[in-house]
This record gives sequence, structure tokens and C-alpha cells, in this order.
Amino acid sequence: MAEIINNPSTMERIREEIDSVVGKSRLIQETDLPNLPYLQAVVKEGLRMYPPIPVFGRRLQEGCVMGGFYVPEKTTLVVNGYAVMRDSDYWEYPDDFKPERFLSSSRSEQEDATKEKVLKYLPFGSGRRGCPGTNLAYILLGTAIGMMIQCFDWKIEGDKVNMEETLSGMVLTMAHPLKCTPIPRGLPIIKDP
Ligand code: HEM
Repeated sequence: MAEIINNPSTMERIREEIDSVVGKSRLIQETDLPNLPYLQAVVKEGLRMYPPIPVFGRRLQEGCVMGGFYVPEKTTLVVNGYAVMRDSDYWEYPDDFKPERFLSSSRSEQEDATKEKVLKYLPFGSGRRGCPGTNLAYILLGTAIGMMIQCFDWKIEGDKVNMEETLSGMVLTMAHPLKCTPIPRGLPIIKDP
């Protein structure tokens, strides 16, 4: 939401997509998500830049060679998913919020589809111990963000949201929690209390 608020053109594009696919007379629901590729791309880009679990670990059951180094059994390996997803060797303009990179029509997205396969997109970890809640998370995030954009404008104090990050335990979070005020868009689906 913070990146969407900081990028009004993104907010506008999500809203146009929802208004044309869902309309203004009913709320977005999870079955709409496959028809909302830009919204899905925004969710993916948010998770690329701000993975809530930035590092995850593995313990080696047997020794093996990694990147030319022998790593003995029982070694604990910590994968820095945050660093991988901000690595300019794998991502164009890694520090820029660019949901378009995940749209299948763009060339860079096709490259990213390959990159996903070779483990460059890691907000949910990877492999057999990868997050089993991935699909549920995408559905919850897509519908929650979709509804917030469909129904409200968002006002903040000042020009930009401060995007500074911090760790709370092992969880990546905003250093300054997002404070914003929802302004109803006046759609017929939002009833006065
Ligand atoms: C945005 C939301 C979420 C994010 C970013 C996230 C991220 C992650 C990550 C990075 C891991 C470690 C994966 C690895 O070691 O390869 C993980 C593990 C796990 N996640 Fe999620 N997760 C999310 C939502 C959920 C949800 C909704 C559920 C369940 C309903 C869930 C259940 C689990 C479980 C049970 C594990 C442990 C899997 C194992 O150790 O085998 N997660 N998650």
C-alpha cells in the first residue's frame, strides 16, 4: 500500500483495471484475480522488494560442493532472499518499484519467468520446505489490496510515505508504520453506516 500511495500512476492503473473487469456495482472477489494481471503484478513486486521473511535457513544433511566450496554436513546455511531480490545481476533497476516487470506481455517479465525458475524470486522461499501458504497469501493480498484501492482514496500527511525498513525479530517491516486515511470513492457498493 505504501508503494502504491507513493506511485499515483500505479494506483490509477490498478483502479482502471478493477473498474473495467469488476465494475463499480460489486466488490472485487478472489475469483476476479486471474483477470486482474496488473494487480497481481503489484502484489508480486511488493513481495520482491519487501519480503516479510527476508532470510530463511537450511541445515545440510550431507556435505556437498556449492559455488566451488565444499560445505560439510550439518552446516546451517542462511539464504538472504532480500539480497537476491535486490541484486542488479538478476533484476533491472532492483530498487525501483516496477510491477510491469511481472506482466507477461513485457519482455522483461518473460526474462523474470525464467529467473523465477532459477530461484531469483524468493519471497516464499523455495523447494520442498518452501511456504505451503503461497497461494492463500496471494489470494488474501490480492483481494485485500484490490478492495482498498477499489473502494477508497488514501490520504497521507506530507508528500511521500517514508519507506525506511527495519527488522522486528526475523520479520521485515516498515521503520515508520504507514499512517493513512481512507476516503470513500462514493461507489454504490459502500453503504453509509
Ligand atoms: C505474504 C505471506 C507469506 C509469506 C511472505 C511467507 C513466507 C514464507 C517463507 C519465506 C517461508 C520459509 C520457506 C523456506 O524455508 O523455503 C515460509 C514457510 C512457511 N509458511 Fe509462509 N509465508 C506467507 C504466508 C503463509 C500462510 C498464509 C501460511 C499458512 C496458511 C503459511 C505457512 C507456512 C508454513 C507452515 C511454513 C513452514 C514450511 C516448512 O518449514 O516446511 N505462510 N513462509
